[in-house]
Parts: sequence; C-alpha cells; structure tokens
Amino acid sequence: MKVRLNKFLSMCGVASRRKADLLIKEGRVKVNGEVVRNFGVRVDPQVDQVEVDGKPVSLPKKRYIILNKPAGYLTQLGKDPRGRKTIEELIKDIPERVFPVGRLDYNTEGLLILTNDGDLANKILHPRYKLPKVYLALVRGKVSQKTLKEMQKGTDLEDGFAKPDSVRIVRYEGENTLLEITFHEGRKHIVKRFLAKFGHKVIKLKRTAIGPIKLGKLPPGKWREMSREEISKLKKAIYQVM
Ligand code: URA
Repeated sequence: MKVRLNKFLSMCGVASRRKADLLIKEGRVKVNGEVVRNFGVRVDPQVDQVEVDGKPVSLPKKRYIILNKPAGYLTQLGKDPRGRKTIEELIKDIPERVFPVGRLDYNTEGLLILTNDGDLANKILHPRYKLPKVYLALVRGKVSQKTLKEMQKGTDLEDGFAKPDSVRIVRYEGENTLLEITFHEGRKHIVKRFLAKFGHKVIKLKRTAIGPIKLGKLPPGKWREMSREEISKLKKAIYQVM
C-alpha cells in the first residue's frame, strides 16, 4: 500500500511529518535514486528505496514484547514528574520505540504487552475483540461460596455494570483469599473496584494472561520477545472476530 512520503518518513522514525516536509524541501530525500521535492509523492514501503542524506531508511521491525511489570512501576514511558519509577527503565535495551498496550496500576504486577504495531494494540484493548485478561487477586477476608456466586452474576459499578468472564477461588491464605478473575474489558481499576463492591479489598494483584499470551515464569522486571507461535495465536484470537 502506498503512503505519502512524509508519512513514510515519520513511520520510519526519521522525523515528524512537518520536519519530513522540510527535509523534502531541502532536497535531502531521494526515492529510487532521484531527489524528490514534491510533497505529494507516495511511496510503496515494500518496493521503493528511500534515502535521507544518502542513507537508506526503512520501516522499523515490528516488535512484540512481554514484560513482567513489577509492583512499584508506572505503566508509562518517560519520566514521572513525581520521581516514581516507570517501565521505561525496564525496556531500555529495546532499540525500537514500543508502547505498552493498556495499563496496569502502579501497584499491580504481571503481564504487559508492548509493541510498535498500533493496529494490533488497539484491537487487544477493544472490548469488541473480547480478549480475556486473567488476574490473580489476593483479597482481604474469606470469600464465601455465596459471595462467589454473586460475583459471577456481576454488579453495578459507578461507570456501569461489570461481570467477569469467570471467577474462582484458588485457595485460602490464612484470613485472605486468592482469586482468579477474568475480564475481557479494561476499565480503570476494574478488578479492584469490582471486588471492593463485595467487601473484599485487593491486597495484591497480578495479571497472568491476555488472551493466548501467558506470563509463565518470566521473572518480575524482565522482558522477552513473543515467539512466532504466540504472535500468530494472538492475531488469530483477534482477527477471527472481525
Ligand atoms: N484492574 C485493576 O484494578 N488494576 C489493574 O492494574 C488492572 C485491572
């Protein structure tokens, strides 16, 4: 598919579209060996050879990363004005600019997907594609079977009805309960707000899966590349809905 030259240059991370227009105006951009000064030119990234200042430019490699976000990190890139740690520190060694898909709260740990594939990222987040997100929640108090049944029916929250895809008791830990709860939507603080509605405050929260992608044994603070199989399973889970 052809795209405008300035868009292509910004997709390659060379410059913003406005700055790319300046580069074009200054005669620093060549397409297939010819200097191009026409802003309207469109290029096919698969076919055309584009150079800036004599250096070839190409689209960045698509990256699909799994990070085990530790508690005590903000899900954002760049610095926090309040000096809290951000996930940027954990992914410094990835040369491409990847973005977190959705957020985990500061104190939540677990699976975060990072990618530079914007289309896939949007679909992972959209409730229409119903990608289940699985959480382990340690809650205060012993959750009774009666409460568990109520949880399964769902409840009203201040921003609308919420119903988990599933919820089960993993085990009791002293006076607390470890629950596994799955939602396919990503409203802010959904798990904490939902469980608080039943009188059970979340003490610890960890996301263990997003659709077919599992956190597995990845240590906190570490990232790894998704395998080809994982990427294709993820795409299948999303695109089969379309
Ligand atoms: N639900 C929450 O309450 N917190 C998270 O970080 C993710 C889901």
